[in-house]
Parts: sequence; C-alpha cells; structure tokens
Amino acid sequence: MIKVMFVCLGNICRSPMAEFVFKDYVRKQGKENEFYIESSATSNEEYGNPVHRGTVRKLNEEGIPMTPRFARKLKREDYQKFDFILGMEERNIDSILGIVGDDSDNKVCRLLDYSDNPRDIADPWYTGNFDITYDDVVEGCKFFYNYLVGNKLI
Ligand code: 4NP
Repeated sequence: MIKVMFVCLGNICRSPMAEFVFKDYVRKQGKENEFYIESSATSNEEYGNPVHRGTVRKLNEEGIPMTPRFARKLKREDYQKFDFILGMEERNIDSILGIVGDDSDNKVCRLLDYSDNPRDIADPWYTGNFDITYDDVVEGCKFFYNYLVGNKLI
C-alpha cells in the first residue's frame, strides 16, 4: 500500500484536485487497492470548508468523480502515516517542513518535481484559472505514477 498526501495552502483548490485526479488515474490503471490517497492544507484558512466550486466545475467537466470532503490541516503525525507528501509549490514545502519537522525520509517534494519540467503549480484561488491548474495536476500525477512504476514501487 502506497500512501500519498497531496498538500496545498487551503486544501480547497489544488490538493483536492490532485487527490481526485490521482484516485481516478490509479483506478483506471487497476491499482486502486494499492493506494491510500488524501489531501490537506498547510493553513487553517479554509478549515472545514468543501472543495472550491472552480475545482468542482473543472472535475465535473473532465468526468473525474469526487466524494464529499472538508478541508483539514496537515498534522505532524501525517509524516509517519504517509509515504509521499506532495506539495503544489515551493511555499508549501517550507510550510510542510514547519509542520512535520525534518524530512529525514525524503518524503516531501513538489508534485511537479517528478515531471521533466519541475515547477510550481499556480494557485487558482488567486489566478482564477482552473484549466491550467488541472493540466499541471494531470501532468504531475502521470509523472509521479511513472516514477512509482519505474522504481518498482507498484
Ligand atoms: P489552494 O487555494 O491552496 O489551492 O486550496 C487557496 C485557497 C484558499 C486560500 C488560499 C489558497 N486562502 O487564503 O483562504
């Protein structure tokens, strides 16, 4: 079982998008039972709030199923519970390390660090562009999945 935690600032736009895109992707690969996938925030800004309507609209358009969920903050204990803790941007990485402490097991990086063009995923809460964010999330999920396959982790 590979346990993956996606993390962004508010846990209403990007990290739930990545959670549902990656769940759908592994399901389509027939590997659903080999993963445990969640998402969380580095802040309490949106604690208890549902997924942002922009993310809901984009995932509906793309036919990606969602389940009801509410924003929650990353906890220190999550570091032991998860194998991969994937932030959306550099700022998230600093905040994640502030919450979990040292990344002694090298579990923390940006989702797009697995791509051949490592970069941040822009925050649609500020940009209003959920299409670009979706394309970046899909790219990151595919590269991350291929990394797992290439390293014989699945
Ligand atoms: P997210 O977007 O980190 O992709 O969920 C944001 C949502 C809320 C806030 C910031 C970013 N906020 O400051 O409330």
